[in-house]
Amino acid sequence: MAATRKTGSLSYVPNWLVLAVLFIILHLTSSKTQKKPNIVVLFADDLGYGDLPMYGHPTSSAPHLERMAQEGMVFTQFYSSSPVCSPSRAALLTGRYQVRSGVWPGVFWADSTGGLPLNETTIAEVLKTQGYDTAIIGKWHLGVGVNQTYLPTNHGFDYCYGIPYSHDMCPCPVCFWPKVPCGLNDNCNSQWTGCPVYENDRIVEQPADLLTLSGRYAKQASRFIQTSAEKGNPFFLYLAFQHTHHPQFAGVEFTNTSQRGEFGDALLELDWAVGEVLGTLQQAMLQDNTLVFFTSDNGPSLRNEQRGGSAGLLKCGKGTTYEGGQRVPAIAHWPGVIPDHSRTTELASTLDLFPTLAKLAGAAVPSGVVLDGVDILPILQNKHGSRELFFYYPTSPDPKYGLYAVRYKQYKAHYYTQGEVNSDPNNHDPDCRPSAQLTRHDPPLLFNLNNDPSEQFNLGNMSEYKQLLKTIDSKKVEFEKTVVWGESQIAGHSSPDAEPCYNKGCSPFPTCCHTPQWWWP
Ligand SMILES: *[C@@H]1O[C@H](CO)[C@@H](O)[C@H](O)[C@H]1NC(C)=O
Ligand SMILES: *[C@@H]1O[C@H](CO)[C@@H](O)[C@H](O)[C@H]1NC(C)=O
Ligand SMILES: *[C@@H]1O[C@H](CO)[C@@H](O)[C@H](O)[C@H]1NC(C)=O
Ligand SMILES: *[C@@H]1O[C@H](CO)[C@@H](O)[C@H](O)[C@H]1NC(C)=O
Repeated sequence: MAATRKTGSLSYVPNWLVLAVLFIILHLTSSKTQKKPNIVVLFADDLGYGDLPMYGHPTSSAPHLERMAQEGMVFTQFYSSSPVCSPSRAALLTGRYQVRSGVWPGVFWADSTGGLPLNETTIAEVLKTQGYDTAIIGKWHLGVGVNQTYLPTNHGFDYCYGIPYSHDMCPCPVCFWPKVPCGLNDNCNSQWTGCPVYENDRIVEQPADLLTLSGRYAKQASRFIQTSAEKGNPFFLYLAFQHTHHPQFAGVEFTNTSQRGEFGDALLELDWAVGEVLGTLQQAMLQDNTLVFFTSDNGPSLRNEQRGGSAGLLKCGKGTTYEGGQRVPAIAHWPGVIPDHSRTTELASTLDLFPTLAKLAGAAVPSGVVLDGVDILPILQNKHGSRELFFYYPTSPDPKYGLYAVRYKQYKAHYYTQGEVNSDPNNHDPDCRPSAQLTRHDPPLLFNLNNDPSEQFNLGNMSEYKQLLKTIDSKKVEFEKTVVWGESQIAGHSSPDAEPCYNKGCSPFPTCCHTPQWWWP
């Protein structure tokens, strides 16, 4: 339109000159708009709302994340879509609640034959349509499958390096320097094959040397950024740490260096890797054209007691639909775009990254599928966001019960509550313990989270909130009408054939799976 107007007003100038000028203008502006922003998503594992210094932890240290926060924005009401790992990751990558994609109930295991269905569209696939280089470094946890069907390279990632599930799902021979075995309470499962490290669809190390893993993750991340920068391609890096999941540990450089024991050491090592990524961006002079978003997959696992994480002032932790299970730290960094030293109380979720990143890249979101996220770019520019609802599904959702809780503006209604082992069998709050059985609430428990973030004062049976509960009920019904439950990819889908093994078909299984250079018997 602008072009037509211009030719009109310049009609006394020779046509060839107008065309030449237009060509130059178009060329200049298009090469500018072609500079699509790079995207880095840093995803911590089981890092709770109260675990970081800028969220109030008195002895945690995370200097690089603090720098990110100072130069960027801290979210105080950011939610993961699930209180546990696989579903939370499925929703992050698809922008859809886990029950839609079939990533329920619970999580994938080392012998799971299922995975994130291949017909789900991941954000990596969306960004690839706009010429992005894509990589996942770290923990995948969306299935491997018998024929490695579900690995990231089949889900839009050009490059993958890491363990495809949690490091407590394989024998954890050593956790602490110098080669001290993990503690008895770590649930390091010894029935499955050693933790495999995949590079693309090839196992390059089994079992994984956990002590050096973070160093390699940081190195691969930096290498990926540098390579894309040299090629001049925009990139999407998804760096999913194994820290601070249990068993907590750190490499030699970080063991015994924090004030906060093993958890603090693990966090310091994670933080160091964040620093490596930020440093690489800075060196490549890409900081001003890169959105770096840091958050966590779910609340803290509290069952490891002194080694566990912290939900701060929030109730319970991982595995529950109380705030401690799903409200997580989140920090956004993009100098020049996101105002520094900013802090937002707007509601946002991991579900929102999908539409936000697609928009940043100028990509269309998939049509014909229900997305659950909203664009949070306004929030990043210090304006109001558009999310006023958030829906909570438990660790193991069941179509019979549906949603456990609904957040509407500052209110949260619990229709069902349940404790969970990851929120600690000995938790001081009996509501968090696994012994707190599934309980239906009618009227729902109702909390005003602005006044009462710890969910202590139930308003649900006070007459003045009747109308509000009706409104929340209708929002819940409206949402649940849109939910078609994807066939479960987890329940009843397991076989030893799916366990990753470097020497597929060997015996004695599973120790025969070790890669040749491994020193551990
Ligand atoms: C993927 O395929 C399954 C099985 O045919 C179907 O039920 C589901 O709706 C599909 N999902 C998407 C996102 O197309
Ligand atoms: C895996 O691949 C083999 C060989 O192509 C095939 O026979 C088998 O059916 C596949 N299994 C699954 C679960 O895809
Ligand atoms: C860390 O501290 C523990 C407990 O004091 C000790 O056993 C271990 O040797 C220390 N490790 C290092 C690397 O300092
Ligand atoms: C409201 O609910 C609380 C907690 O469930 C209970 O202790 C209290 O007795 C109830 N009050 C009324 C008026 O029902």
